[in-house]
Amino acid sequence: MKNTLIVYYSLFQNTANLALEIALQTDGSMRELIPDKNYSFNYNTATKEVGNQISRGFCPKLISGNESIDDYETIFIGTPNWFKTLSPPVLSFLRQHDFKGKTIIPFCTHGGGGFGQIENDIAKECTESIILPGIAVNGTVESEDIKRWLETIGYEQ
Ligand SMILES: Cc1cc2nc3c(=O)[nH]c(=O)nc-3n(C[C@H](O)[C@H](O)[C@H](O)COP(=O)(O)O)c2cc1C
Repeated sequence: MKNTLIVYYSLFQNTANLALEIALQTDGSMRELIPDKNYSFNYNTATKEVGNQISRGFCPKLISGNESIDDYETIFIGTPNWFKTLSPPVLSFLRQHDFKGKTIIPFCTHGGGGFGQIENDIAKECTESIILPGIAVNGTVESEDIKRWLETIGYEQ
């Protein structure tokens, strides 16, 4: 069996729900990224905090989730779509590990913008990896959609 890791950041739990469904269907291990200072649960305040960090390319310190990835061959990487790009905790994770030779599979949740630049942004950080087509979910996760997508990309346990 492949060693599969599902790494994600989620503020309002949508990406966490998607990560959980992927973990259930792949039998992979889940790993939540937790930055040292979390964002506000107030949408307007979070928008200001996040906008400021993204415009500076800021990578927050992770207090959880940054352990070694050596044991994993396949890594699903999940983020909310924030201003068409990765959430800063996911950028921190990507910058701090070596993904050479690993299979990377992006996933995101969004409010209508799909992946935006997220797949490109992940590819830029994982230049020596095999990157499979990801999934972008708006709203509730349907387990049938995840099943179909995993079959389409040829994911096998
Ligand atoms: C700061 C911020 C910026 C966002 N920017 C976008 C965006 O550019 N495009 C989009 O489709 N959705 C955007 N959204 C909506 C989120 O991607 C969506 O609600 C997502 O499911 C949240 O994931 P979470 O529950 O895991 O935090 C934004 C949300 C926030 C809080």
